Amino acid sequence: MRKFSVKPLQAAAALALGSTMLLAHAGEVEVLHWWTSGGEAKAAKALAATMQAKGDTWKDFAVAGGGGDSAMTVLKSRVVSGNPPSAAQIKGPSLQDWAKEGVLANLDDVAKADNWDANLPKAIADGLKYKGHYIAAPVNVHRVNWLWVNPEVLKKANVKAPTTWAEFFTAAEAIKKAGLIPLAHGGQSWQDFTIFEDVALGVGGADFYKKALVQLDPATLKSAKMKEVLTTFKKVKDYTDKNAPGRDWNLATAMVIRGEAGMQLMGDWAKGEFIAAGKTPGKDFECVAAPGTSKAYTYNVDSFAMFQLKNEANIKAQKNLAGAIMSPAFQELFNLNKGSIPVRLNMNLDKFDSCAKQSSKDFVETSKAGSLVPSIAHGMAVSSAAEGAIKDVVSQYWNSEKDTPEQVMDKLVSAAKAK
Ligand code: GAL
Repeated sequence: MRKFSVKPLQAAAALALGSTMLLAHAGEVEVLHWWTSGGEAKAAKALAATMQAKGDTWKDFAVAGGGGDSAMTVLKSRVVSGNPPSAAQIKGPSLQDWAKEGVLANLDDVAKADNWDANLPKAIADGLKYKGHYIAAPVNVHRVNWLWVNPEVLKKANVKAPTTWAEFFTAAEAIKKAGLIPLAHGGQSWQDFTIFEDVALGVGGADFYKKALVQLDPATLKSAKMKEVLTTFKKVKDYTDKNAPGRDWNLATAMVIRGEAGMQLMGDWAKGEFIAAGKTPGKDFECVAAPGTSKAYTYNVDSFAMFQLKNEANIKAQKNLAGAIMSPAFQELFNLNKGSIPVRLNMNLDKFDSCAKQSSKDFVETSKAGSLVPSIAHGMAVSSAAEGAIKDVVSQYWNSEKDTPEQVMDKLVSAAKAK
């Protein structure tokens, strides 16, 4: 467990929250999360500072590992041993699994005091409830289907940022010929899976994505379209470098930042890395929708579930945290660092950059058009059991030299049945 130095942020948070809220509660909240990269850590500090500005103590419980697989393993062992943290970064359908275990706290009073029902998009609010009661507080909306581009590298290769998969392969080939790495990638199963969902959305479209990766329809998981998705996905690997296996996602982002690689397919937590490195969108880097997905949006909402506690002061601190998370001041401060956009509705986005504004506009438009879809790679679409099984199949295929798309489709159909 590391200690944060939060003094400057704490002052900013205190100012933003207003001095009337600076009451001493003397409670402690232990918060489990996996935000340890440059941009992520800055965002986590904003959360700690917001807490401390309210007089409570933050106990940091960071478990490194992008995508949160390690954090979730550690969380399970803490809860099983009867010693849960106050709050944990849990999202999507697995919130329901935790609620079913009867270990989560009810946040209705906090939600009611700030009218979360009116201040959140309904579909998102519904996912944060179990049997009609709030069980988690949301911090943001991440868009997963982004391609991060270094314009200098593209210039050297004399190509434009790709908007279709055909253009992607042309650009990638040109970057390779120019002696640079086309696509920065970290070969970890959740990163392979992130590329897979981008390809599924880009090649198949939103309706195909929903049938295959949300409803897990067997006929769609084994279809001519899925074969095309799998073939395209595997071709992407040819444009990654040989040191990709095991690399952390933020190190892949750093390769784009330094101009060693031209592009990265990653959610907008990657923007947090560019920003933390002092880079400006539209100048030093570009954010474009992943190939073929400009009219669709894979969303990933980070949220904190609170565990049932006995100590009164800590329960109070926990509720303070839930309330603070949804406050406009926090939503702004946090998301400026995290790369995501506020999940709270009707926020002023003046301080946000062009990528965030684009994300916000596309969130609204795709929601109306029916092409706003939950990210399967980031725990938003299916049960964690099915997600894990499908992720393994996809990642094995990415790494294997011999699996055919036909074999993989059969494996996908069985994996989708995992409970
Ligand atoms: C996602 C999470 C993001 C970001 C990313 C990489 O699943 O929602 O907040 O942290 O993993 O760690």
